[in-house]
Amino acid sequence: MKRPVQPKFFNYMSTILETVDLKMTYRVGKVDVHALRGVTLNVARGEYIAIMGPSGCGKSTLLHIAGGMLTPTSGRLIIDGEDVTAMSDAQRTELRRRKIGFVFQRFNLFPTLSAEGNLKLAERIYARAKNGGNPEGRRRILKLLKLEDKLHHKPLELSGGEQQRVAIARAVVNRPALVLADEPTGNLDSENSKVVLDMLRGLNNEFGQTIVMITHNPEAAARADRVVEMRDGLILSAGVPHTDS
Ligand SMILES: Nc1ncnc2c1ncn2[C@@H]1O[C@H](COP(=O)(O)OP(=O)(O)O)[C@@H](O)[C@H]1O
Ligand SMILES: [Mg+2]
Repeated sequence: MKRPVQPKFFNYMSTILETVDLKMTYRVGKVDVHALRGVTLNVARGEYIAIMGPSGCGKSTLLHIAGGMLTPTSGRLIIDGEDVTAMSDAQRTELRRRKIGFVFQRFNLFPTLSAEGNLKLAERIYARAKNGGNPEGRRRILKLLKLEDKLHHKPLELSGGEQQRVAIARAVVNRPALVLADEPTGNLDSENSKVVLDMLRGLNNEFGQTIVMITHNPEAAARADRVVEMRDGLILSAGVPHTDS
């Protein structure tokens, strides 16, 4: 997708996601696995970043911690100004519900619900759906994701690329402050990958949605504003924002 090259400045005073010296050690039997060994990362509001690195370097662990799904062994996590590390489980669940959207490699849609049904469910979970949710908001997102004519299809009646677009629509329908995507194109062929990447780029451009995406695909990473490189539980390079994606 071509878009005018315009400088995009991020205000790092307006940080949506901040991690400070995050460490995560998994205990497997009697063996400690040091998945994160001190990760400090800032993501500015409106930024679209890609995280790259070899398998096993801790990318998913970092994303799951950032999403409040996993508690780190030590370190701090601040989302939208709120210190998640200090929260109770209930508070963390609430924060996740209000502020975070997830996109997974395996789509994770409800198989018995249509595309629209999956979105409505997400709205209901968010508790905004008292009057059928926000039909206008749903319509805009589905249009951007080119799914208007697939509203009533169930996941099995959709291609992989379409399923992932529904999953992305679901992740953003409540306009979360932060969208976390773990290898969203990992199960897609190159053509569908391209479509999904265009959509993510479009969501970021049009709604200013902050996106943190893990990817193995250099083309996918090149579409982001910044590429963060991880190795062996650490950040090797936090990248430099670029504007020509
Ligand atoms: N639930 C778990 N229990 C034990 N070890 C885990 C668990 N999840 C991940 N690991 C280990 O932590 C390391 C980092 O894993 P992960 O965060 O999934 O890396 P990546 O997403 O970069 O492939 C790997 O050595 C992996 O085997
Ligand atoms: Mg992973």
